[in-house]
Amino acid sequence: MTAAGRKAKAGGEKGTGRKAEAGGEKGTGRKAEAGGKTGTGRKAEPGEKADTGKSRSRKRAHRRGKEGKVMGRFNQARAPIYEALEEFRQERIVPFDVPGHKRGRGNPELVSLLGQQCVGIDVNSMRSLDNLCHPVSVIREAEEMAAEAFGSAYAFLMVGGTTSSVQSMILSATKKGDKIILPRNVHRSVINALVLNGAIPIYVNPDMDSKLGIALGMKVSQVERTIKEHPDAVAVLVNNPTYYGICSDLKSIVRMAHAHGMKVLVDEAHGTHFYFGDKMPLSAMEAGADMAAVSMHKSGGSLTQSSFLLTGISMNPGYVRQIINLTQTTSASYLLLASLDISRRNLALRGKKEFAKVTALAEYAREELNRIGGYYAYNSELVNGDSIFDLDKTKLTVNTLGIGLAGIEVYDLLRDEYDIQMELGDIANVLAYISIGDRERDMERLIGAMTEIKRKYRRDNAGMYTQEYIEPRVAVSPQSAFYAEKESLPLMETRGRVCSEFVMCYPPGIPILAPGEEITEEILEYIVYAKEKGCSMTGPEDPGIERLNVLREQWAI
Ligand SMILES: Cc1ncc(COP(=O)(O)O)c(C=O)c1O
Repeated sequence: MTAAGRKAKAGGEKGTGRKAEAGGEKGTGRKAEAGGKTGTGRKAEPGEKADTGKSRSRKRAHRRGKEGKVMGRFNQARAPIYEALEEFRQERIVPFDVPGHKRGRGNPELVSLLGQQCVGIDVNSMRSLDNLCHPVSVIREAEEMAAEAFGSAYAFLMVGGTTSSVQSMILSATKKGDKIILPRNVHRSVINALVLNGAIPIYVNPDMDSKLGIALGMKVSQVERTIKEHPDAVAVLVNNPTYYGICSDLKSIVRMAHAHGMKVLVDEAHGTHFYFGDKMPLSAMEAGADMAAVSMHKSGGSLTQSSFLLTGISMNPGYVRQIINLTQTTSASYLLLASLDISRRNLALRGKKEFAKVTALAEYAREELNRIGGYYAYNSELVNGDSIFDLDKTKLTVNTLGIGLAGIEVYDLLRDEYDIQMELGDIANVLAYISIGDRERDMERLIGAMTEIKRKYRRDNAGMYTQEYIEPRVAVSPQSAFYAEKESLPLMETRGRVCSEFVMCYPPGIPILAPGEEITEEILEYIVYAKEKGCSMTGPEDPGIERLNVLREQWAI
C-alpha cells in the first residue's frame, strides 16, 4: 500500500491490520482531545495528549499495576515505529533521498557487515515514518506509549545517548546564571550542560564509603542545608541510582525541592529497570520528579545511543521539544527509534519477569563471590536510610582490595586472560552490568575466573588507594573556565591553578576535575595513581594527560 493510500485510511485501520480503537485512533489518525489542556495549562497541540483528570488516573492505575500487557489507554503489545518500518519494507519505494547508500546498494561492505535487514531500514524521515523533530504520527504515538509505560506525562525518544537526555533536561530547567544543586559525583554530561548554558553548579559533596572507595547518595539533610543556603536555586539534580547502584531518598528530596519552587531532574541512566521490575528502588516519575533521563540502551535492552527523556506534568512538552531540537540531529536513525519502540514493548509486556531473573542472577553471583573470600560483593546490608537510602540489586559491584588488586587490575585480567568484559573497573571495584541478556553459564564463567584470579594473582594490599571522590573547590563557573584564556602546563606544574577542562576515568565518567576547579596536590596524586593502574582516562586536550589546560596566571587562586 502506498503512503498516500494509507493516509486515506486515517481514522481507520493501520496497514498492519490492527483495528482502530473506539474514541479515535492513535497515530496518524488520532484526534487531539477537544479543548484539552496540557499539564502546563496551555491548550493541547493537535495530536498532543491533554492532561485531563482522566489521564492522571490512568497514570495512577499504571503505577499500581506494572503488570504489562494492556496498560491504560494504549495496547502496549504494539510498536508503531516498528510496524511502520515493516510496512515500508513492503513498499519498494525508489529512494531519491538520503542516506546515500540507498538501502545498501552503494555500499556492499556495509551490507556485509550489518546485513540487508538492517541497512534496508536505515532511512530518513518521510511521511509514513514521521519526523523526530516534529512528530505527528508513528513517532508521536510511540512517545505516548512510552509515557504510559513509564508512568510519565510525556516521553521523548532520544537518539543522542542519555547524554542528550541529561543535557536537554538541564537546558530545559536552567539558563545562564541560574543555580542548580547537584551531587559532585555526576556524569560528565551534566557538567557539560553547564558549560553550554552557563548555569552555576552548587555541589552537595556526597559522603564516601572509605572502605569501598565509592561516593554515596545525597543525604536529605545535606540537600536541605544547601537549599537553605541557596534559596534562589532553580533545580536539584539527583542520580537515581549512581553507577554503583546507590539511591538517595528521592521522594523526600522531591518534596523539599518542590516546597521551595525548585524543579527536580533525575539522571536515571542506570535506572530503566526501576520502572518495570518488582521490589526495585523508587523511580523518578513515581517519586514525582519533573524530568528524568533514562538510558534505555543500558538495562532496557535497546540499541546503543538510544534513550528516553521523561517529563512530569509540570513541564511544557512543546518547550522541552524546542530545547531538544537545539542540539538534536535532523536525521534521526530509525534503527535507534525502532529499537526504543520494540524495547519499550518488551519491558511493558515482560519486564517484571525479566528483571526478577536479573535480580536473582545478581544475588546468586554475590553469594558465590563472597564465598570465595577476599572479594566483597555488596548488597542491602549497606542501606542506612539516608546516604544509601536504597540499593539497586541488579548491579553486581565487587570490591577487590581484599585480594590486593585494584578493581581496574581485575578488570584487565578478566579481559586479557579470561575473555570477560566487565562494565567498569576503578581503583577499588569491578562492576558487572547484569541485564536481560545475561545467562547463568556466563555468570558461572565470571565466578570461576574471579576464583582463579584470587588464587593466581593475590597480593598484599598494603598501600592501596581507596579514595575515588575528592571534594572539589569551585573557583570559576564551568562555562567561564571552559571559554577563558588558558595555557597548557605539564601536569605536575598545575598545582594551585584553575583547571579549564575535564579529567576523568571512563567509565564511570565522573569528573576528577571539571572546568573551573582548583587543582590540588591530592588530585594530582590521584590522577598519577589512576594512570599508573591503567584506568582509561579522558577529558583533557592532551589525551596522554601529560599536560593540562589551566586558566592564565591572573586567575590563579
Ligand atoms: C550516570 C550517567 N549519566 C549519563 C550517562 C550518559 O549516557 P550515554 O552514554 O548514553 O550518553 C552515563 C553513561 O555512562 C552515566 O553513567
